[in-house]
Amino acid sequence: MEIIHTVAALKMLLAPLQKADSKIALVPTMGALHKGHLSLIEMAQKQAQIVVCSIFVNPTQFTDPKDLERYPRPLEHDIKMLYDAGCNVVFMPSVKEMYPSFPTPEHWQVDLGPAEFLLEGEFRKGHYQGVTQIVKKLFDAVQPDVAFFGQKDFQQVLMIKNMVKYFNMEVEIVSCPIIREEDGLAMSSRNIHLSLTDRENALVLSKALTYVATHFDQENLPTLLAKAKTMINETPGVVLDYFTIADGETLLPIENKNAAHPVALVAAKVGETRLIDNVLLS
Ligand code: PAF
Repeated sequence: MEIIHTVAALKMLLAPLQKADSKIALVPTMGALHKGHLSLIEMAQKQAQIVVCSIFVNPTQFTDPKDLERYPRPLEHDIKMLYDAGCNVVFMPSVKEMYPSFPTPEHWQVDLGPAEFLLEGEFRKGHYQGVTQIVKKLFDAVQPDVAFFGQKDFQQVLMIKNMVKYFNMEVEIVSCPIIREEDGLAMSSRNIHLSLTDRENALVLSKALTYVATHFDQENLPTLLAKAKTMINETPGVVLDYFTIADGETLLPIENKNAAHPVALVAAKVGETRLIDNVLLS
């Protein structure tokens, strides 16, 4: 496994492989890897000859400096996990490598469509501009044929697909299923911050989503939403940001169940940690 720190070195390594028509997959991450990330690597290995995993805690997508500061960075552990998983290349650039003028911001504004400003976009203003800015830089550096992202960040996958359309890029975006702990908690690098009590309380998010998924055909939308929100609001230590049943492409709340791609999405603060989760309803 090669560990690379600069775009120039990465391009030099990948150029002959690209010339030889090897299929290259990229798995972009911010590190603090868990089984969810490993599932992305495994999916990538099934579809490509070379798998590049990037580890970069991207400052431009954090709206809260404290969140950036406390983001976990267990680099040795991450590298071992990637080595054991048979990843081919790890790209671990510095902030200066990706943003040479940092901390002076680079100009970046992409039209990601109206869904940018809903849900996470409402609570984390500018977040998806930051995400798409770094993902575009990573795509430019790696020139992957295919890139893998977790469905847990449902809106992120949609925004990245919109960015790819905006720039007419050729990379295929694959959304991979959410990996859950045995008790239903969606795996996330942020779970490390949950106390034992938070961890217990956080289960209400997947329980509320499961309730909606299993009763979607029987109960009407207002009842489903009311029940899910009540479950969450009645759980101590959990502060709900949103729970919605939305169209998977516009992210607007659906008005009837015939919507093409209904999805239930939730975000809440559990103790000091903000968690998101979702479930597809079709
Ligand atoms: O999902 C993440 O870990 C990040 O948002 C991503 C896609 C690696 C961009 O920094």
